[in-house]
Amino acid sequence: MSKTTAVPARVSQGSTSPIPDMAAWRKAWMDATDNPNQFWLEATQEHVAWETAPTQGLDGDYDSVGEAPFKWFADGTLNLTVSCLDRHLADRGDKVAILWEADEPGEGRSITYRELHAEVCQAANALSALGVGKGDRVIVYMGMVPEAAVAMLACARLGAVHSIVFGGFSAEALRDRIVDCGAKCVITQDIGLRGGRKIRLKAVADEAMAGQDVDHCLVVRRTGDDVGWTQGRDVWWHDVVSAASTEHDAVIVDAEHPLFILYTSGSTGTPKGLVHTTGGYLTWTTWTTRVTFDLREDDVYACVADVGWITGHSYIVYGPLSNGATSLMFESTPLYPDAGRYWDMVERHKITVFYTAPTAIRALAACGDEFVTKYDRSSLRVLGTVGEPINPGAWHWYFDVVGDKHCTIVDTWWQTETGGHCITPIAPATPTKAGAASFPLPGILPQLVDANGRQLVGPAQGLLCLLHPWPGQARTVWGDHERYVDTYFSMFPGKYFTGDGARRDEDGYYWITGRVDDVINVSGHRMGTAEFEAALISGDAISEAAVVGYPHEIKGQGVYAYVVLAGGFTDGDLLKDLNGLCRRVIGAHARIDTVQVVPGLPKTRSGKVMRRILRKVAEGRAGELGDVSTLADPTVVESIIAGAKSG
Ligand code: WT7
Repeated sequence: MSKTTAVPARVSQGSTSPIPDMAAWRKAWMDATDNPNQFWLEATQEHVAWETAPTQGLDGDYDSVGEAPFKWFADGTLNLTVSCLDRHLADRGDKVAILWEADEPGEGRSITYRELHAEVCQAANALSALGVGKGDRVIVYMGMVPEAAVAMLACARLGAVHSIVFGGFSAEALRDRIVDCGAKCVITQDIGLRGGRKIRLKAVADEAMAGQDVDHCLVVRRTGDDVGWTQGRDVWWHDVVSAASTEHDAVIVDAEHPLFILYTSGSTGTPKGLVHTTGGYLTWTTWTTRVTFDLREDDVYACVADVGWITGHSYIVYGPLSNGATSLMFESTPLYPDAGRYWDMVERHKITVFYTAPTAIRALAACGDEFVTKYDRSSLRVLGTVGEPINPGAWHWYFDVVGDKHCTIVDTWWQTETGGHCITPIAPATPTKAGAASFPLPGILPQLVDANGRQLVGPAQGLLCLLHPWPGQARTVWGDHERYVDTYFSMFPGKYFTGDGARRDEDGYYWITGRVDDVINVSGHRMGTAEFEAALISGDAISEAAVVGYPHEIKGQGVYAYVVLAGGFTDGDLLKDLNGLCRRVIGAHARIDTVQVVPGLPKTRSGKVMRRILRKVAEGRAGELGDVSTLADPTVVESIIAGAKSG
């Protein structure tokens, strides 16, 4: 393995960060490791506005998590929106909080902290009048409009628990989530706009709510298109929110009061609703936004994710607003109207911190440098990436072409479960290596283990575990704590197993190698193979299906489906038909790239599908199959290899 030299951090002068250099990182990491309670109690009191400041740090641990969720700051009380809104009014009332760039370039809105505070209070009052109160669940099914952030904050203001469902999910997927969390209210919009296309959000929500116990549906008017209307249930946002009072007393909750539920895919079963609580999550997102990006008062910060995913929660809304930053919300796509859209925005808004996903970087790099270089990007200081491993080629393009070699790249590794960044460069401090997530933040204790859970020391490759709870970690799975314990803490007792593989190099840098479980990461969107398989066999044509991921040049991973046709069905326009099923059951973002009809799936004698074999074939590495003698019918493998398609 050749030694990779690190690129020194680019801009550190002018930093006011608690961690401006590597010496400070080393000290903070040691302090947080030796004395986590003191470290995080001090940090939270400095960065978060508490009603009652906590005196307790961590209560519980990974050994006792089976009995009860661990807690952070349990005796503290607060309302999160005070940190994100009220406390900024005195000094930053007229500062732009949300800079909304709508689907058409140059269209949008700037919303100051004062205006955002007023609108959140109005929305909270309106929701309250509709019967939403502390602890009630509210589903948000919207595109990237400012009202989505207002809706999140209004729920938090009331102590209601929001659950955002990404606008690409189908009616079936939305209904499952409405049912699982017992939502009494759904907030949506008439139509979503993305890349000039219309997304029928209200119509899909109507289908999902049919026959369900949803009291009210609050609808934002985005386009004015005609939509279906259920009298008594449906209410226009502009009717009830604009009419409500702009004052509202924030509902004070305990630190461990649930803030939101976010559904994510795992290796098995249906998506699970991870629960993030208020005080710890806010501490983690506030502190990591500040530290990782070296956030500064005059930054124009742009995270171009969607609020339907954890990145949007933590790094468009909660982290930036709690820091009093100007946070851009982007409704469109990187390719609309052309591949210059991001850099056009950088020039127009003088963006200083820009955060996106490797998939977008790869797709844009393939379009040519001129889409980048024709715009002025001199305002940029920090470039972030998240969601999947970034290959060195894409990293260098981001560094050389987009950042003109003067920006620092932060390759932030984290998960829905972790709430915020865990292993990442710190912009002013960490020398970066192309493709390495680098070092753990204070509070994060990584350990690499082998398949038997034995600790690996020094340079090594293994399974990534984290050894100690940090404030931002998800506490449970909604309604099913046993599933939480089973998913994350049963593989290696006493350790949180991330589901990722990682390598640690001779300088101690961590390189995330990707999922080692049956989770596929397509364009940074996480999907379970089990979900695809359930969708495929939901029709009549397929009797058995096994889905695996394989390397894909742009999307990171592609989706490869092996299917057994049911009697009487032929391989007609199979890919199209099966993608229709996936769209209906999961959503438009769930697409199969390759389908192969097989006579049977390779199974052990006990009936377990041997995915290892299917993965190798999909990767074009059928020559490395190894021992297949434990298979019930080894001839199946021969025909699978013979019929393999190149992905
Ligand atoms: C999975 C989590 C984190 C917010 C968006 C995705 C992969 C995430 C990186 C990175 C390599 C990464 C991991 C992780 N991942 N960031 N910087 N380098 N891999 O959140 O949907 O919960 O997915 O995304 O495999 O487990 P998510």
